[in-house]
Amino acid sequence: MTKNRVLIFDTTLRDGEQSPGATMTHEEKLEIAEMLDEMGVDIIEAGFPIASEGDFRAVTEIAKRSETATICGLSRANFKDIDRCWEAVKHAKSPRIHTFIGTSPLHRDIPGLSMDQMAERIHDCVTHARNLTDNVQWSSMDATRTEWDFLKRTIDIAIKAGATTINIPDTVGYTAPVESADLIRRLIKEVDGAEDVVFATHCHNDLGLATANSLAAVEGGARQIECTINGLGERAGNTALEEVVMAMKVRGDIMPFETRIDTRRIMNISRRVAAVSGFNVQFNKAIVGKNAFAHESGIHQDGMLKNRETFEVMRPEDVGLSGTSLPLGKHSGRAALRAKLEELGYELADNELMDVFVRFKDLADRKKEVYDDDLIALMRVNDGDEDHLKLVSLKVICGTHGPQTAEMVLSIDGTEHSLTETGDGPVDAAFNAIKGLYTHCARLQLYQVSAVTEGTDAQATVSVRLEEDGRIATGQSADTDTVVASVKAYVNALNRLIVRREKSAPGADVKGVSYRDS
Ligand code: KIV
Ligand code: ZN
Repeated sequence: MTKNRVLIFDTTLRDGEQSPGATMTHEEKLEIAEMLDEMGVDIIEAGFPIASEGDFRAVTEIAKRSETATICGLSRANFKDIDRCWEAVKHAKSPRIHTFIGTSPLHRDIPGLSMDQMAERIHDCVTHARNLTDNVQWSSMDATRTEWDFLKRTIDIAIKAGATTINIPDTVGYTAPVESADLIRRLIKEVDGAEDVVFATHCHNDLGLATANSLAAVEGGARQIECTINGLGERAGNTALEEVVMAMKVRGDIMPFETRIDTRRIMNISRRVAAVSGFNVQFNKAIVGKNAFAHESGIHQDGMLKNRETFEVMRPEDVGLSGTSLPLGKHSGRAALRAKLEELGYELADNELMDVFVRFKDLADRKKEVYDDDLIALMRVNDGDEDHLKLVSLKVICGTHGPQTAEMVLSIDGTEHSLTETGDGPVDAAFNAIKGLYTHCARLQLYQVSAVTEGTDAQATVSVRLEEDGRIATGQSADTDTVVASVKAYVNALNRLIVRREKSAPGADVKGVSYRDS
């Protein structure tokens, strides 16, 4: 590894997936892991194997399928977690165990350990992990709020016990760039054996400083950045992979660091993570937002036509956005659809293409021009054959003075049921009909509608987040009819909730392990 190579450690599937509502299915996790591997991520943190059977299965399968990336699993600082983690990651060509404990005063209080007891635990756990594999990452959680002397002591112990990567997490997004750089610099200077390990930075974005803090840590000597696609993560999220990677690429003159990331794959994976997590990317998000390369104002457009560099510090192509793109229409054939989908990063088997083609034709019949964003929305729609619930038909009757009426036919495990319900508006009426047909006590946490393109025939994409007994599921759908899209998104969320319910039935899962209670 050259001096200025920075390793990219992606934790979308662990820290990202941990954020409430962002839960992904097993297949979705495998798909995202494959995309991360293909784009050149060095280390994929694939999950927290002790947390649930689902996490264990996903980490195991990702480890088996990994091509180039190191596959890492998270474990709290105890032997049971570490053993479970190893059982999952050991299948990888290059496995890593990541173990951690909260070292700041507030976090030390949780397991009720004295400093000496914690020091002993770190020694024992890193030694135990190191007896299983020679690739062990240690994290002193909440490092940026840990007393200097104790932080240094924990790192000294972890290195002596054999840790090969030392992670310095800013768990609550509290640090600032100067401090972030100084902390790493000082650790590297004062800790014994620092030259034999890689220092990592893991930042959260509570103050909007995660990208700046990560880059500052690299200036200070860190050579691994922990990040997620779209900055997905608990609260305000984690450092966004696309931001740190593009910053180092575009400003290589002042940040002479390299990664192995194929940046042209950024847009595709960003869209896919948004789709499977249900967390839409804000329009003005750096690098991957819908408006990141849009130039609306006259003065900008004029400048852009003369010289793109007037208002662009990077080319859209560098992050995988194709230039101008012609819309498809109802006369477009299967080959044109396949070519367009490939351009957008979707590679489909013949039977999958057939299925999408039917939905594309249906959309093109209702909408004159089908744009890239329409196709992306279409690909996000999940009408799985294995779904318990499916919308068969819906008719809504709206008058100026309510209530509105929804007549619905829903297929439940293959049998059709119908009901007419009223509500305060068509969406409310339709949701009441779903509740009448399929009794459940899930609470609606989020209902979000956005137009995919311009015009009154634009598709609406709808996200619905439901919560039931602490389990959260997000469903999405798109349709030119907003009420239909809303119902399908609700049904999609319910289907995901049912799967989650089945997985957490007694004996099926050991979910409920808290990540902070080591
Ligand atoms: O934010 C954090 O401290 C973490 C650790 C488990 C590394 O995610
Ligand atoms: Zn974190």
